[in-house]
Amino acid sequence: MSTAILVVDDDALVNDFLVTTLRESPYEVDTAFSAAGALEKIAGREYDLVISDVRMPGMDGLALLERIRTSAPDTVVVIMTAFGEIADAVRAMKAGAFEYLVKPVGADVTDAVVARALEFRRLKVENRVLREAVTRRFAAEQLIGQSAPMKRIFDLIDAVATSRATVLITGESGTGKELVARAIHYRGTRRQGPFEAINCAALPETLFESSLFGHEKGAFTGAVRAHRGLFETADAGTLLLDEISEIPTPMQAKLLRVLQEREIQRLGSDRRIPVDVRMIATTNRHIPTEIAAGNFREDLFYRLNVVAIDLPPLRDRLADIPALIELFIHRYNAENGRSVRRVSDAVLRLFERYRWPGNVRELENFIERAIVVAGGDTLTPEDFPRDLVTDGPRSKGRIIEPGLSIYEMEKALILATLEAEGNNQTKASDKLGISSRTLRNKLYEYGLKTPGGGAAPLCAEEAVTRGAEPA
Ligand SMILES: Nc1ncnc2c1ncn2[C@@H]1O[C@H](COP(=O)(O)OP(=O)(O)OP(=O)(O)O)[C@@H](O)[C@H]1O
Ligand SMILES: [Mg+2]
Repeated sequence: MSTAILVVDDDALVNDFLVTTLRESPYEVDTAFSAAGALEKIAGREYDLVISDVRMPGMDGLALLERIRTSAPDTVVVIMTAFGEIADAVRAMKAGAFEYLVKPVGADVTDAVVARALEFRRLKVENRVLREAVTRRFAAEQLIGQSAPMKRIFDLIDAVATSRATVLITGESGTGKELVARAIHYRGTRRQGPFEAINCAALPETLFESSLFGHEKGAFTGAVRAHRGLFETADAGTLLLDEISEIPTPMQAKLLRVLQEREIQRLGSDRRIPVDVRMIATTNRHIPTEIAAGNFREDLFYRLNVVAIDLPPLRDRLADIPALIELFIHRYNAENGRSVRRVSDAVLRLFERYRWPGNVRELENFIERAIVVAGGDTLTPEDFPRDLVTDGPRSKGRIIEPGLSIYEMEKALILATLEAEGNNQTKASDKLGISSRTLRNKLYEYGLKTPGGGAAPLCAEEAVTRGAEPA
């Protein structure tokens, strides 16, 4: 990618001078004549460096600097001040400018400052990327499990980590499927390569296709630039297809082809690009049922299901709970500046009887909320939601009991229906007489689900949850 610089000055002569000087080097140089014009350009593309005058009609250079620091934090800003206006320069440096240039600026000085600014930007980006990688890796290494079922999962992870075999991870919502996917990547031979993830439930078909396969410039309306898809960016690494059962039907055939041929074609191109990507898919649905219902291709299932890892629900591995509590207390103490040390024995007993419909994520949410509200160093039942006590016991008793709020009753009914339908959200929403979207929203409200079903991206570019923290 070439280096892009934006020069901002209401004085056309200064702009022309800088553009001429800078274009002698292999930089792409754009100009703007006001801060507002600059912001428009910045919204359209990423600049490595912005060189801006301080005093301009309308928004000044310092306000522009502030806006850039929040909207494009990787962009380095150099401010130009008039001779004798040292106070401007001081304010700019305090506000986070990398350097200031005093007008009239000479070509030599400009070259030197630009070179240093660009080097700073390179280090800054490199540092951020490394830090993110460490964070992700750290999260992957915090996969906890001492119960017998989890020990078997760890053995499986180690066995597949060093291969390129496609892995299908199944399990109820919140059992740690994404975390296991990351563990496979970071414990394996591909750990130096990228880990990319896409949430198949969160994207419309058209965006989904270009996110995965990329597109050439002009491939469709709005494709103003060529774009590398995830299969290309994940080369030599791992690609996580989260919630694979939600993948649009026409995309299933395309995905199958990649699995068979190990090459892709960008939208709007005939060129075949070989890809070396380990694929991991997750789902909380029972795929054979989806196959029987005609929603999922059987051949794709067999291709994905080379190695199957089925994460047991938390209620079937209660032995993991104490260590998980410890991890989450530690995590949320640090985040909230608290010093909680333990949960009381009464809480532990409640936890052992609870059904955990939202599994580890629910436990994590409980602990986080309790730490935020708790006063002392021991978490007691009062620090936890009431339904831990009310719908906690694994009894299949009446849902309507005097003393319950409408909210608690509704929650109990929804969770009981879900359980009765084997966690199949489509069937449960049918029984409940609500749309599956409403059901999802309710589960989200209860802290049992992330919006959109997982780490929910908002648009094509953001769908690339590059290094996004586990949801
Ligand atoms: N074994 C574990 N050790 C530590 N943390 C865990 C473990 N399992 C799950 N978690 C935590 O629980 C939360 C949910 O995990 P994750 O997102 O991997 O679940 P999931 O199965 O992908 O859920 P969903 O089906 O809703 O997408 C995360 O914050 C994760 O860090
Ligand atoms: Mg997930």
